Amino acid sequence: MEVLLSAEDLAAGIGRLSTAVRQEVGRRPLTVVGVLTGSIVLVSDLIRRLECPVQVSMVWASSYRGTATSPGTLELRLDLLPDLTGQEVLLVDDIFDTGRTLEALMQELRRRGAASVRSLVLLRKAGRAEVAIQPDFVGFDIPDAFVVGYGLDFDGAWRHLPYLAALDSADIAAARAGQRSHDAEPVPQADPAGVPRA
Ligand code: IMP
Ligand code: MG
Repeated sequence: MEVLLSAEDLAAGIGRLSTAVRQEVGRRPLTVVGVLTGSIVLVSDLIRRLECPVQVSMVWASSYRGTATSPGTLELRLDLLPDLTGQEVLLVDDIFDTGRTLEALMQELRRRGAASVRSLVLLRKAGRAEVAIQPDFVGFDIPDAFVVGYGLDFDGAWRHLPYLAALDSADIAAARAGQRSHDAEPVPQADPAGVPRA
């Protein structure tokens, strides 16, 4: 694994994102809708840096990827959402890859009568978009690699890493072969910034 963004890099990115959201939303109430499961760390860091009245809700989305690179059928669950009529909504996801998840969720949230729906992602992968829309707020543009950590997983593993790492083909092959390489410690982080390992 190669560390792409350290815990410090990520914290700085969240700082920039929250400043941009604060500038746009001001003190008006905001409904933050996180996309389970990958956005949990981002949502928790982001909302603590907002100054407006915030409500938090979650939806669930999954596009099954057996190969880590090819998106599959998109499955959405929105039954936890409150009434969004007239709300200013910020949809928060971990990564914009093909964009299909964000596009489908934006449509659903608009259909529910929100006054406005904006989107925020931590990461946007280069050269992968298959939709016309782009996120309103992007933390980092990254190369086309499969990444894990800070909420993002490969087959359920590595979400808890406090940094973002790119998997190489050996990591992916080992995970596919069922060697559960994620049970071993991955590449040591030079400076984990005091964030405890899970
Ligand atoms: P999209 O619909 O293709 O934009 O895919 C978005 C979803 O795919 C994200 O919410 C992630 O759950 C997942 N995903 C895409 N790329 C990666 C990756 O590199 N690592 C982990 N999950 C990813
Ligand atoms: Mg996701």
